[in-house]
Amino acid sequence: MNQIVMITGASSGIGKETAKRLLARHFRVYAVARRLEAMEDLRTLGAEVLHMDVTNEASVYRTMEILLQKEGRIDILINNAGFGSTGSLEEVPLPEAQGQFDVNVFGLMRVTQAALPAMRAQGAGRIINLSSVGGQFATPLSGWYNATKFCVEALSDSLRREVSSFGIKVILIEPGGINTGWPVDAALNAQRNSGHGAYSPMVGRFVKNLRTYEHKLSDPSVVADLIEKAIRSPRPSTRYVGGFGARPLLFLRRLLPPKWMDYIVRTQFG
Ligand SMILES: NC(=O)c1ccc[n+]([C@@H]2O[C@H](COP(=O)([O-])OP(=O)(O)OC[C@H]3O[C@@H](n4cnc5c(N)ncnc54)[C@H](OP(=O)(O)O)[C@@H]3O)[C@@H](O)[C@H]2O)c1
Repeated sequence: MNQIVMITGASSGIGKETAKRLLARHFRVYAVARRLEAMEDLRTLGAEVLHMDVTNEASVYRTMEILLQKEGRIDILINNAGFGSTGSLEEVPLPEAQGQFDVNVFGLMRVTQAALPAMRAQGAGRIINLSSVGGQFATPLSGWYNATKFCVEALSDSLRREVSSFGIKVILIEPGGINTGWPVDAALNAQRNSGHGAYSPMVGRFVKNLRTYEHKLSDPSVVADLIEKAIRSPRPSTRYVGGFGARPLLFLRRLLPPKWMDYIVRTQFG
């Protein structure tokens, strides 16, 4: 029997790449996002393509219900939808920060809450949450994004311990720099929010760094590999790490005292 998987944020980047990978492996893929037209290629490849705005409760439950009516079960939920609103903590408008929490944290939990009753009834399921190395280590100009991913880490750890007795596994994916629209959006947002005041020199270096490392960013297939591992392993790890810079950064963070990490960050951001 083909496993039933829902992927949020499947209209671009990591979500789309993962959807393609799982379709090629004969999973039954429900690809969901707001931009249906951007998922036409997935429909052609055999995905069920549905609208979902993770910030809208009715939209989340309606779409989950369509899947459950058709399939009667959901084996794997991949919570991938997310974005990075950047800028200094002093300047990012709080409604923008709240909007990011609504997608990256509450959106993830809305979809999770909608899937859990079916998974509990089945006595099985996997929930795979896209965090980031930024969920382990916070950097200047990404504070709100980091805060959302730190939340995803905490919620995932707590949920894993709550639902393991129901046969449900909760797994975190922690990518480093991946070549999607994300880094471009991060640069634009930082310039919009903080490119003209006291933090503009820092933003200049942030954008310069993004450009310098652009060609080193990993292909989204690197994250699809991690997700596939998390799906296939009979006893999955709690976390899978990969992509540009992820392992060295986490290694240094474990090894060095915070003040040394501050120094290293200062060499990059000023
Ligand atoms: N790229 C990186 O370097 C990197 C590194 C670490 C972690 N990540 C994480 O990986 C995940 C995917 O990011 P990506 O790099 O692939 O970015 P991306 O190409 O910008 O994709 C983000 C996806 O999220 C969806 N989305 C945004 N708001 C939504 C909403 N309200 N409802 C439903 N879907 C929504 C978008 O679809 P619609 O606009 O069509 O709704 C889009 O498909 C994110 O959680 C991100 O934080 C990325």
